[in-house]
Amino acid sequence: MILYEVLRLYPPVIALYQHAYKETKIGNLSVQAGIDLTLLILLINRDPQLWGDDAEEFKPGRFTEGVSKSSKDQTAFFPFGWGTRTCQNFAIIEAKIAFAMILKHFSFELSPSYTHVPYTVMTPQPQHEAQIILHPL
Ligand code: HEM
Repeated sequence: MILYEVLRLYPPVIALYQHAYKETKIGNLSVQAGIDLTLLILLINRDPQLWGDDAEEFKPGRFTEGVSKSSKDQTAFFPFGWGTRTCQNFAIIEAKIAFAMILKHFSFELSPSYTHVPYTVMTPQPQHEAQIILHPL
């Protein structure tokens, strides 16, 4: 839930671009051939109409009932893209393994020197880096 909430507020891929090679229907939207679509993940992930008035807040509990029930639209959360091209399964397993290996040996806390200034250079990242203090267990 924490990983999903981080990906909601700070999606590593902030937008996806899709090209319609042939006329396509998406719900009641008709997309002509040749149209380029930009799917603004970052904006969709923070839209209060989808996530509620607390959309800007870090609340992992919104994923308690799974990804599809986390927002008002079951397709609103797609930080890994959609369908056969998604790398969600592999990336989440990899992240869980990495966290398990770290948490086996260390507890950690955010350093008081950390300042929260997310900015985007290709991908969102902490402008002044993220200082973490590790405590060996
Ligand atoms: C937080 C982790 C990750 C996020 C948020 C992420 C997100 C994405 C997104 C949004 C796409 C575009 C999907 C589309 O075209 O619709 C993508 C594609 C891809 N990702 Fe990731 N990814 C992550 C981790 C990884 C990892 C760990 C790997 C491999 C080691 C990986 C390999 C790929 C590859 C090969 C593609 C291209 C797939 C294709 O075009 O068919 N990703 N990823």
